[in-house]
Amino acid sequence: MSDKPKSRSFFGFREMFKLFRFLKPYRWIFALGLLFLLISTGASLMFPKLLGNMVDMGNKGKTLHDISRTGLLLLIILATQALFSYMRTRLFVQVTEKTLASIRQNLYNHLIRLPMSFFSERRVGELNSRISSDISLLQDSITDTLADILSQLLVIIGGVTFMMISSWKLTLFMLAIVPAMALFGFFSGRVIRRYSKKAQSFVAESNTIVEETLQGIQNVKAFTNEAFESSRYREKTNEVAKAGIKGGKYRAAMSFIVLGFFVSMAAVIWRGAAMIANGQMEAGQLFSFVIYSGFIAGNIAGMAGVYTRLQKTIGAVENLLLLLDEPTEAIEDKYVPDPAYSLHGQIAFDHVEFRYPSRQEVVVLKDVSFSINPGQEIALVGPSGSGKSTIASLLLKFYEPTSGTILFDGRDSRSFPVTALRAQMAIVMQDVFLFGGTIRENIAYGKPDAGENELTDAAIQANAWDFIQSFPNGLDTIVGERGVQLSGGQRQRIAIARAVLKNPKILILDEATSSLDSESEKLVQEALEKLMKCRTSLVIAHRLSTIRNADSIIVLSEGTIIEQGTHSELISNEKGLYKNLTELQYAT
Ligand SMILES: Nc1ncnc2c1ncn2[C@@H]1O[C@H](COP(=O)(O)OP(=O)(O)O)[C@@H](O)[C@H]1O
Ligand SMILES: [Mg+2]
Repeated sequence: MSDKPKSRSFFGFREMFKLFRFLKPYRWIFALGLLFLLISTGASLMFPKLLGNMVDMGNKGKTLHDISRTGLLLLIILATQALFSYMRTRLFVQVTEKTLASIRQNLYNHLIRLPMSFFSERRVGELNSRISSDISLLQDSITDTLADILSQLLVIIGGVTFMMISSWKLTLFMLAIVPAMALFGFFSGRVIRRYSKKAQSFVAESNTIVEETLQGIQNVKAFTNEAFESSRYREKTNEVAKAGIKGGKYRAAMSFIVLGFFVSMAAVIWRGAAMIANGQMEAGQLFSFVIYSGFIAGNIAGMAGVYTRLQKTIGAVENLLLLLDEPTEAIEDKYVPDPAYSLHGQIAFDHVEFRYPSRQEVVVLKDVSFSINPGQEIALVGPSGSGKSTIASLLLKFYEPTSGTILFDGRDSRSFPVTALRAQMAIVMQDVFLFGGTIRENIAYGKPDAGENELTDAAIQANAWDFIQSFPNGLDTIVGERGVQLSGGQRQRIAIARAVLKNPKILILDEATSSLDSESEKLVQEALEKLMKCRTSLVIAHRLSTIRNADSIIVLSEGTIIEQGTHSELISNEKGLYKNLTELQYAT
């Protein structure tokens, strides 16, 4: 989603066409709509001609009966125009809404399947507001813009033809003035577009601020940074205003174009009146001529507007297409356990080196090698930033190692489908993410088709059943947005229940107990130990007391393994980092 537009065709039709793949299922409704559009526009073109005829009939002293017949014809034509335009709009609205829904669904499906590297390079709030503003731009452009262009072209060409038939001299006179005005309108349109695009990106930035501060409102308040956030927001919104005002200057200049059109109209009537005086033209002809000129002028002015709208839309389409072109992970929608990929739980890192795609110059893991046997518990300790969580991310295949290999049961992780691996792993992290629904929904996230008994069993095993039962609504208690209505320890145990339900072969605990008070830590620790039984587990621990019994402890520092062994082995190394860290922890 870069801001830099690629070279685009003048009208941007190429980009629009790419979007038409979403419109394809509805192409017949769309085509019918276009046909109705042609009919209604054609009918409206007859209107000035018949009006002129009526005036001429009056001028020539025809009977009321004859004049009324033309009037009736006129009425029928107007009714036809209205009817078809009504049906056209209904059809186009259908096409637009269905196409938009399909674009939204495609984008969302694509977005959640993008690899972690995509998300680590972008701010999620910005992404979200960009997408929603881009889509809302499409809302009124998908069908209407195209319809407008077509009907405008038709009115201009049809109008000019009628006028030519009526008086080519006056038509040429008119054509000498109007197109100059039109070109002027076209180019001022482009300038306006530039500023509105700028304003749009400032709007997106200011929305990001709102989204981020509201999400982190506790931090804003705790740091009493309200004033700081206000000024950040003020700056951005002022920039929105500045860009808007600059664009407004050019929009205001459009008034002169309107003036131009009136002047040319007056000139046409002036010339026409002279021709009537010479007997070269009938009054009724001039009458219809003026109305056609009005039609044409209006449509040319409208075209400039449509052009700017189209350009804005193209910008949005380009952004959305760029997003849709991002390669996704190969995720299977319905994972059917494949015995060929079923894990026993043996894991090995073989000379793994890793750099984050967003920060290529920093080597986060250097020459990391270790192995875990099925059912073993391996602990990872080390200072913050040493690369522990990164190891967990690599196991989950969020990223691929820059060099070296990760092996499951002796097989290169690259030979496993992402889904097969993730389906057999579970992770419990320090910040548990709960969705805004009920406790039941949050536990069932580990296995959406779980039955009632399975859910309760999982909750019991996770030491969560007691507190769940104490709520009047039990499993159906609403957890509040992100689980704010629960304590840290309770959220943690829900996450554990989720993992229990998933029944993974490999369990990853990333500082799962570090944010808890000692009371709930005990409950959570107990639950975790039950969960770790009979599985391979990788435990990233902040509190060293929790990993004493691990089969092996790996000490990581700045991305390299500096010590490895059991608790008693490591503790006997007086100068070791592990010994050092334990002493620090017991001192406090
Ligand atoms: N998404 C990311 N993009 C770039 N660098 C990252 C990312 N995540 C973590 N890092 C960097 O990688 C290093 C290791 O981080 P991490 O594995 O989270 O450490 P730990 O879990 O041991 O505290 C840190 O220097 C951190 O800044
Ligand atoms: Mg970490």
